[in-house]
Amino acid sequence: MFAAGFIQRRAFSASARNLSKVAVLGASGGIGQPLSLLLKLNPKVTELSLYDIRGAPGVAADISHVNTKSTVRGYEPSSGGGLAEALKDAKVVLIPAGVPRKPGMTRDDLFNTNASIVRDLAKACAEHCPDANILVISNPVNSTVPICAEVFKAKGVYNPKRLFGVTTLDVVRASRFVSEIKGSDPADENITVVGGHSGVTIVPLFSQSNHPELSSNADLVKRVQFGGDEVVKAKDGAGSATLSMAMAGARMAESVLRAAAGEKGVVEPSFVDSPLYKDQGIDFFSSKVELGPNGVEKIHPLGPLDAVEEKLLEACLGDLKKNIEKGVAFTKA
Ligand code: 2OP
Repeated sequence: MFAAGFIQRRAFSASARNLSKVAVLGASGGIGQPLSLLLKLNPKVTELSLYDIRGAPGVAADISHVNTKSTVRGYEPSSGGGLAEALKDAKVVLIPAGVPRKPGMTRDDLFNTNASIVRDLAKACAEHCPDANILVISNPVNSTVPICAEVFKAKGVYNPKRLFGVTTLDVVRASRFVSEIKGSDPADENITVVGGHSGVTIVPLFSQSNHPELSSNADLVKRVQFGGDEVVKAKDGAGSATLSMAMAGARMAESVLRAAAGEKGVVEPSFVDSPLYKDQGIDFFSSKVELGPNGVEKIHPLGPLDAVEEKLLEACLGDLKKNIEKGVAFTKA
């Protein structure tokens, strides 16, 4: 009895250890650095693996002095075993790699540069950690997530339950913007945001919140949809949101790790392979996703929308379809 319990505990702690290697691809970039720092502060992460084409060993050395228990290693293409070693045994991989927007650009304008970066990193994930949860941050998320899916399919290892586009920042922004209007604590503002992660594909559902009247506040809706542009403009050529995006990515990773460890009822909005609009040829959609030990556990339907939101959804679906098709066509070509 004692021996069995002991062995079980050993087995459990070994699997718990295995569950917590987290890799960041693009770790020395604007999002990658604060994201890596936040992950170092997360006690659920036991091993932090930082990869970039340049500079990740330096970021790793710096972050490794933070006095939490996790180990930190940095990898470049030609050092420390490169990408293969960075990904080996990873349970969560966050991909913020790529270039950010400059003023006047949409996320789609990043496609030409970022699509091939994400495709190549996805290939490496498919080869070295096919069972990991892949959290895609690189823009345009509406296209880079389908690119990852196509790469995984081509390698015969696609698991739709383990691929996520990080849309958490849209929910974070929505709750913050509402709290500024209402003078409330953003922690009490639970705003559902659905669709994709770009402009009109971002659809906040205020009618389902404590403030249903806000759905007719066109300025607020626009601010949630184009919140990223505020940051791009303010940074004036120096990039897009990095710090708030890092916070959102770290929150998503934390939720995936909590669910992996067996916690029930963990729900995060996320852009996933979704049945909701497949009949309209839209294979990926962001809605509330319940997470479990195997990744996506349950995809929540949208629930009731008011007339304004129905219109927003219509515009969303049109753009989203094109963004997804563009990603798929890229990998096929
Ligand atoms: C944003 O929403 C960078 O996509 C990110 O600002």
